[in-house]
Amino acid sequence: MSIVIDSPLDMHLHLRDGDMLKVVAPLSATYFSGAIIMPNLIPPVTTKDEVISYKQRIIEASKDNSFNPYMTLFFKPTYSREFLSEVKDKISAIKLYPAGVTTNSDGGVTGFNIDELEDTLNSMSEFNIPLSIHGETNGFVMDREAEFASIYEMLASNFPNLKIIMEHITTRESVALLDRYENLYATITLHHLLITLDDVAGGMLQPHLFCKPIAKRPEDREALREVAFSGHPKVMFGSDSAPHPQDRKEASFCSAGVFTAPIALQLLTELFLENSNLDNLQKFISTNAQNIYDIEVPKKRVILEERDFIIPNRYGTVVPIYAGEQIKYSIKEIVC
Ligand code: NCD
Ligand code: ZN
Repeated sequence: MSIVIDSPLDMHLHLRDGDMLKVVAPLSATYFSGAIIMPNLIPPVTTKDEVISYKQRIIEASKDNSFNPYMTLFFKPTYSREFLSEVKDKISAIKLYPAGVTTNSDGGVTGFNIDELEDTLNSMSEFNIPLSIHGETNGFVMDREAEFASIYEMLASNFPNLKIIMEHITTRESVALLDRYENLYATITLHHLLITLDDVAGGMLQPHLFCKPIAKRPEDREALREVAFSGHPKVMFGSDSAPHPQDRKEASFCSAGVFTAPIALQLLTELFLENSNLDNLQKFISTNAQNIYDIEVPKKRVILEERDFIIPNRYGTVVPIYAGEQIKYSIKEIVC
């Protein structure tokens, strides 16, 4: 049996820069039609010129693949209406990081003072630029996302015309928020559909499953699965595939991030065929995102088949999720 996925999109992707970009960009560009590219480089992407030149480097690194990098800026409350008006056609979203909550987020927002944020957020609403948010506080690690809920609610109710994307949601409570505010949307990663905290730290420590937000409880994973498998129109696939070199993961002070991009389609196919159906996978992996972001995507048809595939131990210096393990589905053909 062949399985067809049309124009898959990854609505939350870290491609990095330099040598790492050259290794990971083709892995996404081969299989996906496009991806929302995260701006947390060092230094972060905050100017129009940086957006343009980073996009160019991504396209060059993507080789000949038809792949659309949808660019983002790193949110600053100092972005003026004039600046946003100039940059709006070059970006698809602006990503807000609370300061210090994850990799390269030191220049993020401290405190969520509405007076300080409102000019920028009103201009983003006016220009229809979605606000993508890493929704965690600096609190106790298991509670960070729950503690951020009141900030989501404050932003959603004060800026009703602003599209707000709750990135990589991991809790039951975040799933419930989706239906309470018209302007809230969410991405869900592959790894948060697969694992709980037990897989990370319940036995021997698994650095390659350690990420922000940390995987939560079985009932949280169940809520994520339910909403993703149902094809809910406000939910999109965002891998949050976040490559770090092996020696930064297998170390004390292990960096946060799970690398999933090259095997995401194969594992999502398995998950959806076992728990849902291909129609809902198509919604989760492309149609919903096209509607939410209002984007045209390059046509790319990915055909998979039931054939064992051994996940490589390494891509360059990066160890993927489930390295060396056998999975059930393989990519058979890609038609552009
Ligand atoms: C991401 C990274 O490494 O850039 N890490 C992660 O654990 N997800 C940053 C992020 O999205 O939080
Ligand atoms: Zn991320």
